[in-house]
Amino acid sequence: MKKLLVVANWKMNPQSEAEALELFAKTFQAAKNCPEIDIAVAPPFPFLASIAKRWNFRPEGFHGKTNLHLAAQDVFWERAGAYTGEVSPLMEKELGVSYVITGHSERRRLLGETDAMVNKKLRAAFEFGVAPILCIGEDARQSREIPEIVGEELRASAKDIPPLFLESLIIAYEPVWAIGSGTPDSPADMQQAAIFIRKTLAEMYGEGCGQRAQILYGGSVTSQNALAFIEETDGEVGGLLVGKDALSDDFPAILERLARARRGEESRNLS
Ligand code: PGA
Repeated sequence: MKKLLVVANWKMNPQSEAEALELFAKTFQAAKNCPEIDIAVAPPFPFLASIAKRWNFRPEGFHGKTNLHLAAQDVFWERAGAYTGEVSPLMEKELGVSYVITGHSERRRLLGETDAMVNKKLRAAFEFGVAPILCIGEDARQSREIPEIVGEELRASAKDIPPLFLESLIIAYEPVWAIGSGTPDSPADMQQAAIFIRKTLAEMYGEGCGQRAQILYGGSVTSQNALAFIEETDGEVGGLLVGKDALSDDFPAILERLARARRGEESRNLS
């Protein structure tokens, strides 16, 4: 069974370096007790650098072997040059960053990031050895059917990926209406979304790619609903992308629940 991946997307929080270091220390403690799960923390860039230095992250990972990883919230597609305000995948790699979120809906909507830009970022991240987490999701859902826009976003954002990298595709399905709204998707609909994503990937790159992709759910995840997305989706969901709750004391509870379930100690129905 593939390890679950839980991504803590801090977005533009917290407000100071001291708070960021404290939050990371808490997450570190929680991660230590949950070796069954991979955890990737995505702080804002200035704090990403402070955490990487303070905790001695290396390009090859945190002391080379742990379940706690650093993630970036964005990346640019060139290695260096006249690109004001941008951060290259090489810079992230040097800091010890293992993952990068690409195409988050907040960037697509507030900053006009297009599928073509997301695609360039995704391919650059792969090329420089930082694993991209591709976010897709619809603004609104009229019926229980997964809207075709999700397929279009996926096709355009994940096109032309060299075969070498297809093994390690990570797709985060985050319905925009579920993000920060307190109204998560249902596990049943998430399962349908995951099947839809696998089918689309299979059409693009073959059955194997569709089967192997790691699919995460994101949107108002809390310790109350986290386990259901893993346990009630028939193995389709391989992890979670957590925003607001990653800043709170609820985050260790999410990790603990998932880890205990992996150890066979807790099932949602018994908790
Ligand atoms: P949320 O954010 O958990 O606050 O809904 C998720 C995300 O945007 O990645």
